[in-house]
Amino acid sequence: MSQTDFTRLAQYPGSGCEKYDRRGEIFGREDVIPLWVADMDFPAPDFVTEALAARLADGAFGYAKPTAEHVGAITGWLAGQHDWRVAPETIVPVPGVVPAMAMAIRAFTSPGARVIIQPPVYFPFFQVVLDQGRTLVENPLVEQESTDGGRRYVMDFEALEAQAAEAEMLLLCNPHNPGGRAWSADELARVAAIGARHDVMVISDEIHMDLTYPGIRHTPFARVAEAAGCRWFTVTAPGKTFNTAGIGGGYAVIPDTEIRTRFDQERRGMHLGEGSVFGLTALKAAYTQGAHWPAELMRHIAVNRDRVIEATEDLPIEPMPPEATYLLWLDCRGMGLSDAVREPEDRSLQRFFIDEAGLGLSQGIIFGEPGRGYMRINLATPTRVIERAMTQLREAWEKRIARRQRPA
Ligand SMILES: Cc1ncc(COP(=O)(O)O)c(C=O)c1O
Repeated sequence: MSQTDFTRLAQYPGSGCEKYDRRGEIFGREDVIPLWVADMDFPAPDFVTEALAARLADGAFGYAKPTAEHVGAITGWLAGQHDWRVAPETIVPVPGVVPAMAMAIRAFTSPGARVIIQPPVYFPFFQVVLDQGRTLVENPLVEQESTDGGRRYVMDFEALEAQAAEAEMLLLCNPHNPGGRAWSADELARVAAIGARHDVMVISDEIHMDLTYPGIRHTPFARVAEAAGCRWFTVTAPGKTFNTAGIGGGYAVIPDTEIRTRFDQERRGMHLGEGSVFGLTALKAAYTQGAHWPAELMRHIAVNRDRVIEATEDLPIEPMPPEATYLLWLDCRGMGLSDAVREPEDRSLQRFFIDEAGLGLSQGIIFGEPGRGYMRINLATPTRVIERAMTQLREAWEKRIARRQRPA
C-alpha cells in the first residue's frame, strides 16, 4: 500500500523550498524544471506527516532532547534495515551530517592537517575541510567499465595508500553522491585497512544508506572497520530517506568510547542543542513505522532512472547506472560542450541545459574536477516530470543539431 502520492508535487514555487524558489538566483531563470538540490518533490510518507501534524496540533514547541525511545528507534532501524547492531550509548545526536564532519575535523585533526576526499563528491566535502583550516587532498575516483557494460566509479587504492601516509583523516561518502556507488564490503575493507595502516581516521557519511535500488544492499563501514582496527565513525540522518532534510537533525554512531568522548566534547562546545521537536518527531515516526518505505520509494525512483536511461540512449549522454541514491550522474562529454566559466554561451554545457532545454540540473564541475562535462539529475520527482524533462532535453538537442547542420 502506498504511503505517499508519488504523483503529487509537494514542493512548488512560493512554497519556501530552495529547489523552486532559488531558481532565479541559481540558474538565472525562474522557469527551468528544477532537478538539482537533493530533496524530493513528492510529500514525505503519511506516517511522518501525520506525526508532525499531531505534534503541531499540541501547540507547544519547547526544547527537545532525544529520549531512549528515539535512540531505540535508531538502533532498531539500523538493525532492521542494515543488519547493523549498535549499542544505544554509541548514538550521538548531531545537527546534521555536514556539521558533524566539521566537528570531527576539528576534534581529530591538527590545524593544517591533510584530509582526503574522493571527488567527484558532494561539494560541501571540499568546503568543510577548508573552512576548518585543513589541507584538502583529492583522491579522485576512477571510471571503470562494469560487468553489465555500463560504467561505474572505483577507488584508486594505490594513490589512496600513498596519500594516507601523510594524512590524518578521510571523508568517505558511502553510498557515493554523485556516483551512485554502494561501496562493496571488499572495497570498504581496503579503505579500512589503509586507514589502520596509516592511522587515518575514516568518517563515513551514510546519509544515502537506505536508498539502494532493488536487489542491492548497503554495507555500513562499521562492518569492516572494527576488524581492520581503523579509527572511524559513521554519521547519518533520516532526512534523505524520508524527505525531511529541511527539518534537520542526524546522528553519529561511535562505538569507540575514547573517540565518542572526544567528539562529544567538541559537539557540546558548540552549544548547538540536541535536536528540534520536529526533527525528533519525524525521526521517531520514520524509523518506527517506515520499514517498508525505502523499498517502495526506490521502486518508484527505479522507474524514473530507467526513463532517463532509455531517453538518453540515442543522445550523446551516458548515464552512470547507480546502485544507490536518487541522483543520476550524466556523462555529457559527448555533447561537445564545455563548463568553463568564460565559455561563449553556445558552447556552454550549463547554458544549453538551462536556456535551450529549460532544465535546472546540478553542474558536474561543482563536485570537483572529475565532474567536468557531467551533469547530475535528481530523480525524486513524479515520473511525468522526468518524462517532460526528457522530452525538453531531446527537443533542445535536436534543434541544436539542426542548427549546426544548417548551411551558413
Ligand atoms: C553525501 C551527503 N552528505 C550530507 C548531505 C547533507 O547532510 P546534512 O543536511 O545533514 O548536513 C547530503 C545532502 O545532499 C549528501 O548528499
